[in-house]
Amino acid sequence: MGKSPAVVFDPFDAQQLIDPYPGYRWLRDNAPMHYLEEDDLWVVSRYDHCLELLRDPTTFSSKRGVGRLMSGALGRRHSNTIEPLQFLSELRVLIAIDPPDHVRLRRLVNRPFTPREVGAHESWIRPTCEGSFRGLLDAGAEGGADWVKDFTWPFPVTVIGRLLGIPASLSADFKRWSDDLVGMVGGFNTDIEPKMASFMEMFTFFDEAIARRRSEPTDDLIGMLIHNAEADDEPLAADELVLFCVLLLAAGNETTTNLLSNAMRILTSMPDLLAELQSDPGLIPAFVEEVLRYDGPVQALPRGTTKPTTIAGVTIPADSSVLVYFGSANRDERRFPDPDRFEVERNPADHIGFGSGIHLCLGAPLARLEARIALETLCHQVTQIELADAPVPTEGPLLRGAISMPVRIRAA
Ligand code: HEM
Repeated sequence: MGKSPAVVFDPFDAQQLIDPYPGYRWLRDNAPMHYLEEDDLWVVSRYDHCLELLRDPTTFSSKRGVGRLMSGALGRRHSNTIEPLQFLSELRVLIAIDPPDHVRLRRLVNRPFTPREVGAHESWIRPTCEGSFRGLLDAGAEGGADWVKDFTWPFPVTVIGRLLGIPASLSADFKRWSDDLVGMVGGFNTDIEPKMASFMEMFTFFDEAIARRRSEPTDDLIGMLIHNAEADDEPLAADELVLFCVLLLAAGNETTTNLLSNAMRILTSMPDLLAELQSDPGLIPAFVEEVLRYDGPVQALPRGTTKPTTIAGVTIPADSSVLVYFGSANRDERRFPDPDRFEVERNPADHIGFGSGIHLCLGAPLARLEARIALETLCHQVTQIELADAPVPTEGPLLRGAISMPVRIRAA
């Protein structure tokens, strides 16, 4: 079994977390299949290899990858949890299961997330966005606007809450639950116990919301999922439904917040870009795709091998953990010419910021719609925006974004 040469890459290194891209380039050039001895983790960094792996769920299992990540068994060196919470890896949640379970569950939940179905919500998502944006402008008028706290987190959390049919008054609880869940899975460095309490709170909340809807049907997303599930030959089990709501809340929130944070980091570092989008708003969808390629919110996620297999000429045993670096694949010079240049015109249809294969992001049409509306609103309502202070980045190597981004704004 060939293992990689001297380690230059440490995904948890502070500098690596600030700017991961030079480290990724080193990996792609020197060790495209790299073994992190201390973490017992293989790292895959080139576009073609990532794609090969994502499209072979029989060999590269999400249950053994994302499932193990959820239990805290990955990244143990960086966690202060005493023992992995094994039961979490057994939960049947869409993103952490394999075929045939995945095929069945995905079929049951696909419908409401198609671009067409999602597009029908634009009529209320736009005013929701404008409402959140007013909060940002008001904070700016008082001298202390924060792009993340005042806009990019309240907006997606309100949207997903309304889709699920949950009152807006619970947005703060929603946000706390989703932060804790994402922290538990992606942060590595965090106390799992309080986050588990938050998880149980969220589980109970959705369990009760679902039970209520079984006796009093609703036409929100939860109501629709219950209806679809009951009409199927193999109905969704109660806990599958609860976990799907939990996944939607976490996946549908944090990622969109981070996409918009990364978009702002780019806009404020390229002074002519905002004016370019303002003069041609038709460029906004292409801008969003290039943000997803250039600095996407999901940098990496794991898989676990079900049998011995060879990637990039390196054979690894069954039950190995492999980290698929979407963020590196999207900067692979073998695929994207001049990959470290941000080019709106590039409009990369083949980036893997939303993943690829059977687990391709279910919420991509919603994320694209929210991002387009948010940036259109920005273009309309602001003449100038700049960073007022250094952003506070998210934790850990898997997700990339900001938890705070102070900005100075000039309203239109
Ligand atoms: C910019 C925003 C987003 C990004 C970058 C993103 C990224 C991703 C990625 C990379 C995956 C693949 C995971 C894997 O292969 O293991 C994924 C899966 C998923 N995403 Fe997203 N996501 C975003 C927004 C959303 C939203 C808004 C929702 C829901 C409303 C959502 C729901 C999901 C679900 C349910 C899955 C699992 C799909 C499956 O396993 O079949 N995502 N996402």
